[in-house]
Amino acid sequence: MGFTLKNLLQHIILLQLATVPVCMLLGAQAAPIRITLDTLKTCTQGLVAQTNITTSCCPAPDINLDVPVVDFIPKRDRINGHRVRKALQCLSGEELETYTQKLTKAYDIMRALPAGDPRSLLQQQRIHCAYGSGAFIQDDLSAADNYTIDVHSNWLFLPWHRMFVYFHERILQKLLDDPTFALHFWNFDNSLDGTKSNGVEGKGEGCFKPGHFFPDIYNNNSTSTFEPVRSPRTLIPNITVDLTIVAGVPQANIPVRFANDSAPGNRKAMHDAMQSGTIPRDFFGVPFKYGDARLFPLAGAGSLEFQPHNSWHRWIGGLTRFPSTATADPIFNPAHANIERLWDVWMKMGDNRKLQPTDPDWLDVEFLFWDENQVLRRIKIRDILSISDLGYSFEKVYDESWMDFVA
Ligand code: C2O
Repeated sequence: MGFTLKNLLQHIILLQLATVPVCMLLGAQAAPIRITLDTLKTCTQGLVAQTNITTSCCPAPDINLDVPVVDFIPKRDRINGHRVRKALQCLSGEELETYTQKLTKAYDIMRALPAGDPRSLLQQQRIHCAYGSGAFIQDDLSAADNYTIDVHSNWLFLPWHRMFVYFHERILQKLLDDPTFALHFWNFDNSLDGTKSNGVEGKGEGCFKPGHFFPDIYNNNSTSTFEPVRSPRTLIPNITVDLTIVAGVPQANIPVRFANDSAPGNRKAMHDAMQSGTIPRDFFGVPFKYGDARLFPLAGAGSLEFQPHNSWHRWIGGLTRFPSTATADPIFNPAHANIERLWDVWMKMGDNRKLQPTDPDWLDVEFLFWDENQVLRRIKIRDILSISDLGYSFEKVYDESWMDFVA
């Protein structure tokens, strides 16, 4: 079948895009999106695009917005040395035990912080909600005309989510008083046992086991990394995540799309998402600049965002289903750590794959995040393009599982 549902949706989306060159209509000068203290102060009701339901997620009233903003400078701010984010499925023994203890302790603390503390899980939820539901209005433009901001369905997606996980990780470190703590990732994209299929066992460092099951460490209902409202399918042991979902949500009690095996559908989805990026727009998503109206859901999403990212959100369900609540479920972070790992992998794949946008209207986009000391930091996309400058790397995993996929 040459024309999949995904193709169809993307074609519809491109047609829609052709009809909305809004900044041209306005005659407004395109410029990078900028989030400032004023943006925070003029934050308004958001609208969850997927449901059309309004939501309130502006910074809690007891958070002081009359504060200095401190520029983020990646190398200078790399205070914590270098850390390696590992694949969750390969942790074992003492390392697993220590990691589980630390992670659950950090979320115990984060859940207990008062709402006025921007590091609280509640505020971590609200920040993603505000950035993802149109609650922030573009400078001097009007929310009524849809000149709001969304970090989904456009080229802001990958960098914004890398920043979110980065600051979230720094907050966890601070709450644990452990600057070496790294947020390990959910390697949902690997469905093969590389130690068997590639004979790499014992050769070199890395994790070559399949990682496509819901991570156990987030699935213990007596700890703070658990969320009871997830789809019941996440509770069934050894059920493969479904990365082929592009619309709707599979019925909660029909969890098995694939038998517990090499999940060729997932590997194909990964292969397609990672190969489609010969032009930056396909991989990163469409440009979104000052003067552009917010798009409806899915329009303009890059290949990694569209699928697998949206797919696992739908598969997990519960709080992760909508931007208004997604970051209240701790699973969001290891899953997004893997998304940004895949961005990094893509950058290194083949000679013509390194076409990151070079447009200053992308590089100079400015966002605000609270750091681990509750200081508001101004950070630009150009600041986060090198993860080694940010002070971390990812354990090597078996990306060949989808890179080498042949239908
Ligand atoms: Cu802002 Cu996985 O979403």
